Amino acid sequence: MPFQRTKNINLSPIKAIELKASGIPDVISLAQGIPSFDTPEVIKKAAAKALSRGDVAKYSLTLGLPELRETVEEKIAKEGMFYDFEKEILVTVGSIEAITASLVSAVNKEKDEVLLLSPCYTSYQEAVKVAGGKPVFVELDENKNWQINFQKLEEKINSKTAAILFANPNNPTGTIFPKNDLLKIADLALKNDFFIILDEVYKDFIYDDIDFFTLASKPELRKKVIRAFSFSKAYAMTGWRIGFLHTDEDNVREIVKVHDTMVTCAPVISQYAAIGAFDFADKEIEEFKKQFVVRRDLACRHLDKLSEFLSYKKPSGSYFVFPKLLKEDDSWKFTLDLLEKAHVAVVPGVAFGPNGEGYIRINFGRDEKDINEAFKRIGKYLKGKK
Ligand SMILES: Cc1ncc(COP(=O)(O)O)c(C=O)c1O
Repeated sequence: MPFQRTKNINLSPIKAIELKASGIPDVISLAQGIPSFDTPEVIKKAAAKALSRGDVAKYSLTLGLPELRETVEEKIAKEGMFYDFEKEILVTVGSIEAITASLVSAVNKEKDEVLLLSPCYTSYQEAVKVAGGKPVFVELDENKNWQINFQKLEEKINSKTAAILFANPNNPTGTIFPKNDLLKIADLALKNDFFIILDEVYKDFIYDDIDFFTLASKPELRKKVIRAFSFSKAYAMTGWRIGFLHTDEDNVREIVKVHDTMVTCAPVISQYAAIGAFDFADKEIEEFKKQFVVRRDLACRHLDKLSEFLSYKKPSGSYFVFPKLLKEDDSWKFTLDLLEKAHVAVVPGVAFGPNGEGYIRINFGRDEKDINEAFKRIGKYLKGKK
């Protein structure tokens, strides 16, 4: 009997595009969500020191190194979130493991629906399915700058709703959800008894002085809110596979069982690197952010010149822009053709949920030279199709 459970779970289309792109020698990839930077030296040094001390050969505690959890406790306390490192912080293998383990814990037979604010990060829907749940898409409104339509959201809530999962800032739209809307979500979660899984991996990359609020700072919500963070994006550490979640101890006690079964603990060398990141790399994060603002504005200037073919909402966070294809409907077909003819990789919007169809995602976190060359090729390709 062939495998059944994984039949309707798909590999991320982003990785499929990257795989195709890797076979084209002069390709420029604005597809996968990785910044162009290398991990800062201060972080590498912290990892190298741990390695030379002989501290990395063995498993850590399942929750993670106490030194790292204490560092996390101090760091998030400065951001107004108070969680006890001994019981309420779990170090994970990137944020995706934190999210998947939380979903496995939250979904059950009676409550198996998970609300996804769509377009959303591609792996969410697969993570929900891995957890045995059903993804329920709630369409964001492009006309309202990709914000939440509460009528649509409330229509999708019922007694089977186990959780809502969303990223703030959002990927792929770069939207920041405002405090009032987040508080409305919290009211709905309390009233209807579901969890809020908050993914804040892009919270260090918010532009234009927009206020950022996190529900994880509200003590009365700590039993309902599970917040995931990752070193991947903020510190250019996607390959180190290190992140964490924090929530009330009752939730951590359950989620850690999934984490323990799947991974035992996060990679220990990466846990030391993460301590280095929080202790020493504030300056580097500021520098990344400065560069991303320049790159966002550069990408937007290029898009303005292609307004006959692409329209977009200027992103306020993350390093993605999500333009609409004005002359095409099929984002997969467009993406494959662009890759084949112009040697530029982007991600088809349909990968981010049903209402992403007709859009593409462009990662402006790459360096300026690549952004310029990619848009030169995209422009030539689009104009050649006229
Ligand atoms: C919104 C969002 N969440 C989570 C992840 C997963 O990242 P990681 O597991 O490396 O923390 C990504 C990666 O692209 C992402 O864009």
